[in-house]
Order: sequence, then structure tokens, then C-alpha cells
Amino acid sequence: MNLLAIYRSGFKCSKCNKSFTSKDVFLDLTVTSGMKEYSELKPARTELFRSPLVSFLYERGWRQNFNRSGFPGRDEEFQMAQDYFQSVAGGILVDVSCGSGLFSRKFASSGAYSSVIALDFSENMLRQCYDYIKQEETPMNTNLALVRADISRLPFASCSIDAIHAGAAIHCWPSPSNAIAEISRVLKPGGVFVATTFLSTPTNSGPFSIDALRPLRQIVGPVNSSYNFFTEGELEDLCTSCGLINYSSKVQRSFIMFSGQKP
Ligand SMILES: C[S@@+](CC[C@H](N)C(=O)[O-])C[C@H]1O[C@@H](n2cnc3c(N)ncnc32)[C@H](O)[C@@H]1O
Repeated sequence: MNLLAIYRSGFKCSKCNKSFTSKDVFLDLTVTSGMKEYSELKPARTELFRSPLVSFLYERGWRQNFNRSGFPGRDEEFQMAQDYFQSVAGGILVDVSCGSGLFSRKFASSGAYSSVIALDFSENMLRQCYDYIKQEETPMNTNLALVRADISRLPFASCSIDAIHAGAAIHCWPSPSNAIAEISRVLKPGGVFVATTFLSTPTNSGPFSIDALRPLRQIVGPVNSSYNFFTEGELEDLCTSCGLINYSSKVQRSFIMFSGQKP
């Protein structure tokens, strides 16, 4: 799998016989790929990132803003993730919800993985990722593939992936539980999942806090914004309930990097 192999290539699912062809810089493996009449909208927190403007601005200031909440920044987050992935070096890594590929590009150029797949639902984020790759003069035959897919339906065989990274993404996913169940399904035994997100903060304490209103979420939807922020307990519960073990985390203000492993 590399960038050249994907352009104008075709894939056929051996189980359902659906064909997927690529006329773009990425391979579209969503269920709706190739549909002509039918279209569907995802929640706003997914649709927002499909915009060309947001995709363009993402690495030009948007992402850097996360540092104000405690995110250490691209280089340090990359190094922290690499530390978690030590036991799966040499394997296949999927950077899910990769955005413009700020980490996918670093994983690929690190040479630490046999293949890196940059996966996102946003066509424009994937095109932006491709533009950065060209600017950085990353060789086109580098072991990096761009794939469009929904996190709740990962286009990989069960037990086929060694490492999954999800930077600043779980709060954007339509169903974090479906997503982590999928991640758990596709990881090989011993495979490692690493993710970052914003914690719902203690400043939200009190009778009208996010935590106090949490039980209402099922009735009224997310309470603080269009994003879903979680407590650390919820993140650990999600991982363990989806079958991941060895949960661990690092926290800095609202930033959390957490990890789980497929038994
Ligand atoms: C805040 S960006 C994170 C980008 C990058 N990983 C980072 O660390 O900065 C969230 C990403 O999640 C993606 N996303 C949202 N909903 C998704 C879904 N249902 N399936 C896959 N990706 C999704 C968006 O397109 C967007 O690129």
C-alpha cells in the first residue's frame, strides 16, 4: 500500500463483492462510496471537518490552539505515542481520524512501521494530507496510504492491525462505543490503541456542571457543545468494556493520552 498504488486502483470485497475504485488521491472505503443518488449527513462534529476551509486551517492555527487546554503539541504527542507503540514496532499502524495527517506523516517517515494508513472520513482532510506530503517531498512510494472510512465501520479484517492511533478525535465521533469496539475488533492480539482527547474538566463542577448534567445526555444530547467530552473513568470504561486491557493514561490539564491493548 502506498500513494501511487491507490491512485486509479480498484479493490473488491471478497465477502460482499462490492467494488471500490479510486479517482482521487485517497481510496474511499465508506459504504456510500460509489453511490449516485443516496447521501446522508453525519453529526455536525463530523461534518464540520469535511469543509475545505476547516481542512485548510487545521494545521495553520486550529490544532495549535489545543495547547491552551494542555495538549503538549505535535512533536511531544508523537513521541509519547511512539513510546506506547514500542511493543508493536515493525507492524501495521492505522492513524484513524488522521485529519490532515500531522501524525500519519511522522509515523510514516519514522520508518518504525511496515505500513502506515492515514484514515479519515473527511475527503478534504485527506486531500490536505496529500498536499502536505507533496510539499514535504515525502517519496510517493513511501509506506503511507490514504483511506476514507467511517470510524464505526473500519475496512479491515478482524485481528489484522498492530497499532491504532486516534489523535484528538474521540470527542468528534458519532458513537465512541461503536468506534472502540471496531478498533478492538481489528487489532491483533497484543495490538495497541493510543488516543488523545480533552477531558471534561473539574471547572465544570457544581449543580449545573457537565458531570451533573451527564445523566441528561441521553435525553437532551451532548450538554456543553457539539463535541462529546468524557471523564477519565468513562474513557477507561469504554476501553475495558470493548475488551481492551492494560489501560493507562497521561494527563496534563484537560489533555489526556490513554492506551489499551488487545489481549
Ligand atoms: C480534531 S480532528 C483530529 C485530527 C488529528 N488526528 C489530530 O490529532 O489533530 C478530528 C478528525 O476526526 C475526523 N472524524 C470525525 N468523525 C469521523 C468519523 N465518523 N469517522 C472517521 N473520522 C471522523 C474528522 O474528519 C477530523 O479530521
